[in-house]
Amino acid sequence: MSTIRIEDIAHVRYAAPDLSAMRAFLEDFGMDCFEEGGRLYGRGSDGRPFVHVTEPGEARFLAVGLRAESLADLETLAASEGVAVADLDEPGGGKVVRLTDPDGYRVEVVAGQAKSEPAPLPADHPFNSATAKPRLRRTVRLDPAPAHIKRIGHAVLKVRDFRTSEKWYKDRFGFITSDEVEAAKDVPLGAFMRCDRGDKPADHHTLFLAQLPGELGILHAAFEVANLDDLMLGHQHLKAAKRQPAWGVGRHIMGSQIFDYWKDPFGNELEHWTDGDLFTAADPPQKQPMSALLAVQWGAPHPMFAGKLPPPPGLISFVTALQLRLKRLFRRNPEGTTA
Ligand SMILES: [Fe+2]
Repeated sequence: MSTIRIEDIAHVRYAAPDLSAMRAFLEDFGMDCFEEGGRLYGRGSDGRPFVHVTEPGEARFLAVGLRAESLADLETLAASEGVAVADLDEPGGGKVVRLTDPDGYRVEVVAGQAKSEPAPLPADHPFNSATAKPRLRRTVRLDPAPAHIKRIGHAVLKVRDFRTSEKWYKDRFGFITSDEVEAAKDVPLGAFMRCDRGDKPADHHTLFLAQLPGELGILHAAFEVANLDDLMLGHQHLKAAKRQPAWGVGRHIMGSQIFDYWKDPFGNELEHWTDGDLFTAADPPQKQPMSALLAVQWGAPHPMFAGKLPPPPGLISFVTALQLRLKRLFRRNPEGTTA
């Protein structure tokens, strides 16, 4: 039983030395941007006050925001952690509980933020497939534009010890594993985790914790766009604006999303996605090999497989060390109950 159950990711927070350069990129990426109190905010169309924050400073990742279901839940969390509930002095107001996870990441749990009327998204036009043709006497005409971001969907954090971080996030926020990724049989590398929304469908993943070699940090944050046409128009727009592509377009295996990754001017990776999987709390966790993590069902291969990016330093020795550690554990305890 977790302390509370969070309902979704709320925002990601970065620092950057040039807010106008960040703003120009985020607007090309499809966010509605504004500045307030010396910070830059990006919002989607869902009426939430912000999904992306940039503070002035040396470029780095600062925090991930999670949304609690109620102010009462924030009180429960604060009491359990022995910390205070603070006013959230940002657009939309509300309250916040600030925590630090086992790797030193700031986690900002928010509730009670004001919500405005959602802005309209481009309409889905009926899709004529080979078996069903609902679009009759209607053409498809699309306006070139940046993608339309509706909301933030997930963040991927590198962690030093997956099991420690997994327990920390699950104990407090009620995350459920959708897919655990294995470096080798029974050697976990990380997991795609979703929110426990009971019978309500939840995104396949809201948080992915990945135990990978190299420096800690956020691997990417992801934002849902209107639909496939919108994602492709967004790709075209970012390409025309000479922004730096990272990976895509393609369809993932875990989560099934159609994805498109880009880098902001400070090296942070952001993802557009559409058409992801949904599950309820009743759906059991799955295990997946590491090969499924970066493979695609169709589309652009990951730059590492396309030869554009060398494997992260230490990846092979890291996997070997994990395997050895597990073998030793297993020898000590053949029932395998301590792994
Ligand atoms: Fe992603």
